Amino acid sequence: MPYSRDNMIMNSDLENTTLDQLTSAVSEKFAWKWDEISIADQPFKLAVASDPDAMLIDACERQDAGEEGVIDPFWATTWRAAAGLDRFLDQVEIKDTPVLELGCGTGHAGIAAMLRGAQVTLTDGVDDPLLLVRMSVWEQRDQCTIQRLRFGIDKIEDQSFPIILGSDVTYLRQLWPELDVCLRQHLAPGGQVLLSDPYRFIANEFREWIQKHDWLYTEHKIELADDPEHPIRIMQLTDAR
Ligand SMILES: C[S@@+](CC[C@H](N)C(=O)[O-])C[C@H]1O[C@@H](n2cnc3c(N)ncnc32)[C@H](O)[C@@H]1O
Repeated sequence: MPYSRDNMIMNSDLENTTLDQLTSAVSEKFAWKWDEISIADQPFKLAVASDPDAMLIDACERQDAGEEGVIDPFWATTWRAAAGLDRFLDQVEIKDTPVLELGCGTGHAGIAAMLRGAQVTLTDGVDDPLLLVRMSVWEQRDQCTIQRLRFGIDKIEDQSFPIILGSDVTYLRQLWPELDVCLRQHLAPGGQVLLSDPYRFIANEFREWIQKHDWLYTEHKIELADDPEHPIRIMQLTDAR
């Protein structure tokens, strides 16, 4: 099934949808499956795309053919940086706290916050991953909000968040100014931003860039049991203004 923004199922249509209707609608758009993983040290069934590589190749081929509006489906993979952020949340007082996740993809980090008792708003710039997230949190759907939020374009009105999470969202230079705007728009006074990445070179550049944009920066290293030699970096940002 080709991946495009043409045949989106809009969130507004989903208000009265059952899980069966949602899963069939998603199955018509792309192949997906349940992944049994550990989130917040609990077994959790995460809805994920079955073949992220094929989706990426399909998007590249269509971009090469000149098709406009084809979005890279980087959301379709659950990145290891999310597991690092999950682990780091062990150290954060998060229960009953409003938390915003940006660029959530399949939602591992935001779900980790939700399972620790936070009130989570999971967001991404595209709708398809949000459909999977909606399936993943079906049983806890009263505990979280899911909505599209494009950095620097969309704004959640009348709400700010003491904690903002972003797993592997610093991988493109052109996203940084929009991400900066989005963080400023949504961070509550005295709040903190937690961004994770697998020590990408590009994120080293982001680290320098963001400190020149009035953020105080602290770095943490998280080793994961699956591959301790490749730790995950947590960038903790607070407003320096
Ligand atoms: C590398 S993926 C990481 C996904 C997820 N956080 C994880 O770690 O598994 C980057 C995510 O950022 C989202 N994204 C990219 N550009 C965005 C933008 N301008 N606004 C909002 N989300 C965006 C993508 O759709 C994708 O889900």
